[in-house]
Amino acid sequence: MKKGKYIWMNGKFVKWNDAKVHVLTHALHYGGSVYEGIRVYPVREGRKVVPTIFRLDDHLKRFVNSMADIEMKPVPVARLRKVIMELVKKNGIKDGYIRPIAFYGYERLGIYWEGLPVQISIAAMPWGVYLPKEMKLKTSKWRRLSPDSVKIEAKVGGYYINSNYATASVKGQADEALLLDHDGFIAEAACANIFFVKGKTLYTPKRGTILPGLTRDSIIELARSFGFKTVEKKIRPSEIAKFDEAFTTGTATEVTAVVKIDNKKIGNGKVGDVTAVLKDGFSDLVRGQNVHMNKAYKKWFHKIY
Ligand SMILES: Cc1ncc(COP(=O)(O)O)c(C=O)c1O
Repeated sequence: MKKGKYIWMNGKFVKWNDAKVHVLTHALHYGGSVYEGIRVYPVREGRKVVPTIFRLDDHLKRFVNSMADIEMKPVPVARLRKVIMELVKKNGIKDGYIRPIAFYGYERLGIYWEGLPVQISIAAMPWGVYLPKEMKLKTSKWRRLSPDSVKIEAKVGGYYINSNYATASVKGQADEALLLDHDGFIAEAACANIFFVKGKTLYTPKRGTILPGLTRDSIIELARSFGFKTVEKKIRPSEIAKFDEAFTTGTATEVTAVVKIDNKKIGNGKVGDVTAVLKDGFSDLVRGQNVHMNKAYKKWFHKIY
């Protein structure tokens, strides 16, 4: 990932190397931060390439909801949107990644965040990603954090220790970890949601123990437009054997086929037909090539002229 020119920090644009924090920052010691990962795609308009942010408002709504979940005073979405549009333009990004973070800073040491200053920064950098075509998952021995322990739908920095443990536990044995929830049902991959396919129906773990991914949501819509229905339900690991296909969804890796889980082939062990249709369909959608959906879901696209 390359550097951007500027980072927006606590109300100002500062040079990339000047965006610094104190070593006693709460987020560093106790994980008091919330963040988002958002993509900018190059969208062709005639001979021009227009940088276009995908689902900006939905990411920002999740961001301010996460802020509220850790008792931060939420910031208006409109304010954050304006800053982000300006930052992407200032940094000259066409194909890239945006990382807003809100975190508790430093005033005193102590675990409880009450009264600590809230800092917000937004970075935006060029990022033409390499997308894996397919991958193998392995079920981690670590369970996803329980909704009895944390507010599970918030995207809190501290929670990602759970994803790190899971990733470390499958290192060298698979491309990514699959996490079960506290009751033993399938939850999600370390940093992506999971779908299974049987015939023309998609199955994905229902909300309650997962991060409700925006790519997950977009895929449910896209699938509907292709005539595939999605069932959101609790899925047991023992059900995996009956599915024809599987794939993960996430902002960073878009739609990625899963060809093996725990060394067992999913279907014939190749990228499935439905997965291929949705992978290409999503790639077209975010890059402005799906004429019908790009029109119907205009609010998903923020163009920067
Ligand atoms: C734990 C987890 N699940 C799922 C996702 C996918 O979410 P989205 O599609 O909004 O990027 C992410 C990525 O942010 C994640 O960190």
